[in-house]
Amino acid sequence: MKISIIGTGYVGLGVGVCLADLGHKVTCLDIDENKIKKLKLAQPTIHEERLPQLLKKNLSRGGLFFTTNYNEAVKDAEVIFLAVGTPQKKDGQAELKYLKQALIAIAKRLEKYTVIVNKSTVPVGTGKMSRELIAKYYKGKFSIVSNPEFQREGTAIDDFLRPDRIVLGFEEENSPAVVIMKKLYAKIKAPSLLTNLESAEMIKYAANAFLATKISFINEIANICDSNEADIKMVARGMGMDTRIGEKFLVAGLGYGGSCFPKDVSALYKIAGANGYWFQLLEAVININKKQSQRVIMKVKQLLGRDLKDNQIAIFGLAFKAGTDDVRESPAIDVIKQLLKLGAKVIAFDPEAQFNAKKILGDRITYARTMNDALRNSEALIIATEWPQFARVSPQRVKYLMKLPNIIDGRNLLDPARFKQAGFNYLGIGR
Ligand code: UDX
Repeated sequence: MKISIIGTGYVGLGVGVCLADLGHKVTCLDIDENKIKKLKLAQPTIHEERLPQLLKKNLSRGGLFFTTNYNEAVKDAEVIFLAVGTPQKKDGQAELKYLKQALIAIAKRLEKYTVIVNKSTVPVGTGKMSRELIAKYYKGKFSIVSNPEFQREGTAIDDFLRPDRIVLGFEEENSPAVVIMKKLYAKIKAPSLLTNLESAEMIKYAANAFLATKISFINEIANICDSNEADIKMVARGMGMDTRIGEKFLVAGLGYGGSCFPKDVSALYKIAGANGYWFQLLEAVININKKQSQRVIMKVKQLLGRDLKDNQIAIFGLAFKAGTDDVRESPAIDVIKQLLKLGAKVIAFDPEAQFNAKKILGDRITYARTMNDALRNSEALIIATEWPQFARVSPQRVKYLMKLPNIIDGRNLLDPARFKQAGFNYLGIGR
C-alpha cells in the first residue's frame, strides 16, 4: 500500500521504516530540511537498534522515501499517519498546534478517499477535532483512525514489529477504514483491539499513566525499604510473581523520565481536571516521581556530609534510560542540576547521550570520555542510568581510581555485598 508518515521523529521514523520493511511504499515527511537530508543518505537521526540497517535496506530497495514537500506526501497516499510532536505546554496540556498544521496541510491537498491515522499521543476527542478541521478544507470522503503507538525508545523497531497488541479506533463500526487498516497491518502477528476513536485515544494515556504509577509505587516501597532490612529487588521479584501484578516496570530507581511518561501523565491529569475530575492518584504519582531524584542528593550528603561544595562527583549515565541518547526529562540531568546548585563539581560519562546532554548543561560539567576518566579522583559515584556496562565495573578498579569509596547506586545495578566487602560505602535505592 502507499503510505505517508507526517513527522520523522522518535515515533514517525520507526513507524515509517517498519511499514516499508513490511513491504509498503512509504513516504516520510518532515519540515526539518536537515533531518530529511540526512535520512535520504540513510543517516539515522535517532539512536535506535536495527534502525540503520532497515533504513539502508528499504531506501536501496526503493520502498522508502523522504521529503519536505507535502504535495509528494499526500498525492498518492492511501493512508497518512500523523506522528508529529505533541509536546507539553507550560500548563501541562498537550500542544496540538503542530498536529493542526499538519492536518490543514493534508486537507488542502486531499483529492480522493484517504485514511488519516493519528499515531501521536493526543487528548481524547482529538480525532473528532481532526475531522472537523479537515472538513473545513476538503469536502470529499475520508476516515479518521486513532492508532496509538506503544514503542519504547531504544526498542522502537521491535516494539512496532512485535507489539503486545494493535489498538485501532474508528469513527463508526463499519468504517471503510477497518478493512484498509487490517490490510496494512496484515503481516504483524499480534492481537488487535478495534474500538471507537475516544477509547483508543484513552487507552494510550491510561496505559502510560498506569506504567508510571507502577514505577512511583515501587519507588515508594523502595523508600520504605531504605529504613528496614528488606531488599527492594527481592520485594519486586516476589510481587511480580503474582501474574496479576507482573514483574515488569517494578524496577526502583531515580524515577521515570523521557519524552512520554512525564508529558502524558501530566496531560492526563489536566484532561481529568478539565473534565471536572481531580485525579488524585496521578497527582501523587507525579509528585513522588519529582521527589525521587532528591533522595539521591540526600544519600550523597549522607556519605559526604551536608556541604558538597567543591566535592568532585562522578555520574554514570545522562540518558533518561539505557539504550537511547535521549536526555529529555532525564532524572540524571535533574540530579546533576541539584548537585551544581550545591556547589559540587560534576564529571559525567554516558556512552550515547553526552552530545544531547551538552545542549542542556553546556560546560557546567565535565564530560568524561571513559568511565575511568569519570572515576579518577572523584569522591562519590552516582549511577543514574541503567547502561549494562555500569553493572560490570570491578570494585577494585573503581576503588583504585576514586579518591573516596562512595557509591550511590541510583539504579540498583551493583551487588551491594561485593562492593561493601571491597571497602565501599554503598547506598542503593531500597536495598
Ligand atoms: C514509554 C512507554 O513504555 C511506551 O509504551 C510509550 O510508547 C512511550 O513511553 P519510554 O519512555 O521510551 O516508553 O521508556 P520506558 O522504557 O517506558 O521507560 C520510561 C522511564 O521509566 C525511563 O526513565 C525508565 O528508566 C523508567 N523506568 C522504567 C523505571 O524507572 N522503572 C521501571 O521499572 C521501568
